[in-house]
Amino acid sequence: MPLLAARGVNVVYAPARGARVWAVRDTDISLEEGEFVGIVGESGCGKSTLGYALTRMLRPPARIESGIISFDGTDISGLDGEQLRLQRRGGFALVLQSGMNALNPVRTVQHQFGDVMKAHGKQGDDVSAGGVARRAAALLEAVGLDAGVLRRYPHELSGGMRQRVAIALALALEPRLIVFDEPTTALDVIVQRAVLQTIKGLQRDRGFTAILISHDLGAVLSATDRVMVMYAGRIVEDQPAVALLEGAHHPYTEALIGCYADPRADVIQLRGIPGTPPDLSQSGPRSGSADLSQHACSFAPRCVLAEDACREQDPPLTPLGAGRAACFVRARATEASHVG
Ligand SMILES: Nc1ncnc2c1ncn2[C@@H]1O[C@H](COP(=O)(O)OP(=O)(O)OP(=O)(O)O)[C@@H](O)[C@H]1O
Ligand SMILES: [Mg+2]
Repeated sequence: MPLLAARGVNVVYAPARGARVWAVRDTDISLEEGEFVGIVGESGCGKSTLGYALTRMLRPPARIESGIISFDGTDISGLDGEQLRLQRRGGFALVLQSGMNALNPVRTVQHQFGDVMKAHGKQGDDVSAGGVARRAAALLEAVGLDAGVLRRYPHELSGGMRQRVAIALALALEPRLIVFDEPTTALDVIVQRAVLQTIKGLQRDRGFTAILISHDLGAVLSATDRVMVMYAGRIVEDQPAVALLEGAHHPYTEALIGCYADPRADVIQLRGIPGTPPDLSQSGPRSGSADLSQHACSFAPRCVLAEDACREQDPPLTPLGAGRAACFVRARATEASHVG
């Protein structure tokens, strides 16, 4: 049984005024316990919305319009406040934002460990000042910081140190799933790599399940076991990282790999993807119906392979290569090569 399974998940932002935005559409995901998966895609494609939906941390005006999310066999998509709180106490899942947003600017690091452990910790945790300090020091050591950090305020720490504190705070709750949402975006390249290595090491040693959200395909490929590529609210490709390095199956992923500059290369060449991503307020189920098969492939206007069929229907995410991809042209080519 997978730790996390999402089936047919649709998420909509429905503000009181203005257009509804279909930020996540028709999404099926299965995550095994201990897996480290990446989600990549351009800004606005729905990565964070998906991460928050999977952990039931969405806030209005976003809501899960339809679909099932099950965590360790329990359907969590319909749980309300108190039931969700109980799940969280049991070590469910959380989203870790970038360090500045995750920390309280007016509390010392030690106080923040105390706040988190008292509010969300497991029953039986020692939340006395001494207990908190001991546990916090051990967690800080695990993320590469010394216990002196406990007396500091966030503004006294560098960006990389703040991110490490945020990771240690998340670990204090012993979640079984952690979604890292752009954890290194605000940091310089060297610090980014160091923090990612720390995350990867912690994940491997502690065995929690993790999702790394980033627009940096290189970072995701270096840290994770499996990569899901999102475009316009849908997952269009899902492959083992090693397989993606050998070649993608979806034309959008191929374009992304073309954009990914090898940091070891002497001359970095970025080839942008021509065209712009679609407006998600235009992409939802027509007239409120949930029939998503009525739509064209969102990438078709920018796709060099697009055919008539791609403009008439949205291709389903089907098995392709070592994983899944949503492309009529590539699915057909693979079929033909198997027959031939
Ligand atoms: N509060 C909101 N109200 C209305 N629409 C929203 C809201 N938040 C996000 N959206 C829309 O939902 C879509 C997905 O947003 P989301 O933040 O999930 O994308 P993302 O892939 O995480 O982008 P980024 O890489 O910039 O973080 C976007 O088109 C965005 O405009
Ligand atoms: Mg985001």
